[in-house]
Amino acid sequence: MMSSPPKYFFFFCVSLFLFSLSIFLHYKTSFSTHSPHSAPPKKSVHLLVLSSWRSGSSFLGQIFNHHNNVFYIFEPGHPLWFNFWNEGSEFLHFPLRDLLRSLFTCDVSPLHQYLPGGGKRVSELSFYAETRALCTPPTCSAFKLTDGYDRLKCMHFCMNTSLDQMGETCKTYSHVVMKTVRILDLSILLPLFEDPALDLRILHLVRDPRAIAFSRQYFDLSMDDKILLKNEGNKIITTSRVMKKICKAQVDINRVAKVAEVLQGRYMAIRHEDLSNEPLKNIKKMYNFAGLHLSKDLEQWVYNVTHKEVADQNGIMTFSRDSSKVPYKWRTAMDFHLVEEIQQNCKEAMDLFGYKPAKSQIEQKNLTLDLVNKEWSLE
Ligand SMILES: *[C@@H]1O[C@H](CO)[C@@H](O)[C@H](O)[C@H]1NC(C)=O
Ligand SMILES: *[C@@H]1O[C@H](CO)[C@@H](O)[C@H](O)[C@H]1NC(C)=O
Repeated sequence: MMSSPPKYFFFFCVSLFLFSLSIFLHYKTSFSTHSPHSAPPKKSVHLLVLSSWRSGSSFLGQIFNHHNNVFYIFEPGHPLWFNFWNEGSEFLHFPLRDLLRSLFTCDVSPLHQYLPGGGKRVSELSFYAETRALCTPPTCSAFKLTDGYDRLKCMHFCMNTSLDQMGETCKTYSHVVMKTVRILDLSILLPLFEDPALDLRILHLVRDPRAIAFSRQYFDLSMDDKILLKNEGNKIITTSRVMKKICKAQVDINRVAKVAEVLQGRYMAIRHEDLSNEPLKNIKKMYNFAGLHLSKDLEQWVYNVTHKEVADQNGIMTFSRDSSKVPYKWRTAMDFHLVEEIQQNCKEAMDLFGYKPAKSQIEQKNLTLDLVNKEWSLE
């Protein structure tokens, strides 16, 4: 059969060489066009902050909102959920995915359908004043800027900016950042990673489920909870049932991120507690992930907002005198029976994200016992 081995061998070598060359060229081109870290950068970076209610995502969102290259949108899915309050979160994932894609590309047209006044003015968006770019020149020059921006003044003076102007403003920024608590299944978003118009990255913010459950008691989230549990049958809505669903979603999001090839290098998880304990270090990591530079000015701002009381006008965002103490109020004030229930319902999430159970009320209240695993890392 092998009448002339050298000839076959030569043919084999040439094939191998061509094959290797084609692989090399393939990767070379794909690295230079698709890698998030290549230079020159793609026109835009699209960062989606995925989190859950009362997990510190408003604070994290503000960290991006304050960067000069960022166009930030707070809870874009809010008008959608409140239009379709009779549906479940699973149903709403699909129009929300479409809305996110549109807004990432600065196309505001879906909002004409979802907003109460036909989407003419930004004031129809409940949280438009959370978008710094809508409160500052050139988009709104109606009031004088002191340092930072003033939400109340923005609400008062910038309300008549048209939604179409919002789209135009968005286009002048290199980064579009949105944060949402309304995506509970990351696999819904997988098609967006194949979309040539997007350079999508996911920042997943998690928090100790016991602290979330404790904080939820002080907010009326009944409408959200109804949508969240719509598909779980007609049982009474309780904190522990809501937390069970939320915890499962956080575990699932992380699982999809680990297995989906398109998400490699495009997913970063961060814990609220680490962000509170070491804000600067973690903000640097997040900015790096998003391809943003942390200026000395921003560094000063971060120091300011994490070290002194900053009055908040609408209760959505609270900064503290010392942000490292905020996450642990549940330790002294939460009912131990609820702690136990949450620990049961969220066991998988707690193991995955490095939160240790309190075995008794004594352990819960013993603040020298650290229930957040400091050595935690997903890698
Ligand atoms: C916004 O428009 C309304 C009328 O549509 C007007 O009454 C109001 O004064 C305007 N506000 C500002 C700040 O321009
Ligand atoms: C930080 O706080 C100091 C003192 O209150 C103030 O002078 C400075 O302008 C603030 N810097 C930023 C960037 O917020």
